[in-house]
Amino acid sequence: MLSNITLHIEDDYEAMSKKATDVFIMALSQKMRSVFGFATGDTPKGLYRNLRTKDPYLFKRITAFNLDEYYPIHPENEQSYAYFMAKHLFDAIDLPQKQRHSPNGMAEDPIAECELYEQKLTAYGGIYFQVLGIGRNGHIGFNEPGESWTAQTNYVPLTQSTIDANSPNFLDPKDMPRHAITTGMRGIMTAKQIMLLASGENKAEILYKALTGPVTPSVPASVLQLHPDVTVVVDAAAGALFPRGK
Ligand code: PGA
Repeated sequence: MLSNITLHIEDDYEAMSKKATDVFIMALSQKMRSVFGFATGDTPKGLYRNLRTKDPYLFKRITAFNLDEYYPIHPENEQSYAYFMAKHLFDAIDLPQKQRHSPNGMAEDPIAECELYEQKLTAYGGIYFQVLGIGRNGHIGFNEPGESWTAQTNYVPLTQSTIDANSPNFLDPKDMPRHAITTGMRGIMTAKQIMLLASGENKAEILYKALTGPVTPSVPASVLQLHPDVTVVVDAAAGALFPRGK
């Protein structure tokens, strides 16, 4: 594996979350006044739970950009990613509303919303530290297989794999939106540091492929092989195909 990627394989989900917290806090303490990109999903819940126990003062000056959002969806909908981040982290650390940014899932024109979100991100100087999960199909954010490396914030149709993975979270799976607005590959790749998390055996194969296989748009996370500073923190199940002790 390439030297720009630091891989931590931890024993279990708790240990993974603890290591991820340490990596996050290290980045935060180096640059408290910067832009942090936040991913949703089951994987980072432990990280966010741990961050909730830290001194809220630490987070006072960060600017938060959510990685993605369903479209259309209301921010008060419990399945929206704006709601997820408020519940799992932002409300608990008293992050002022004006420092929280999320694609607007209710925007009238999703394409114009993408442009606006991209402009905001650029105005803030881009992301300093990006938290990422990985989809079973290798997506990062909602950059699904085939997405261009240079994509800016983007309005995308969701693939069947993502719909199958996420629709059980909705009371009626049919209510899951079929589109999303996502930070593009370009926004992710221009982050100064990236931390990718993965947990569970159903991520083992795609994780291995993404980090050691060919760099190809058919495995969106493989682009991380080209990023200068990536920390990958996984549990033993997700890291099962890698030799331990690396
Ligand atoms: P998960 O989602 O953390 O719920 O597995 C990750 C993703 O789809 O990016």
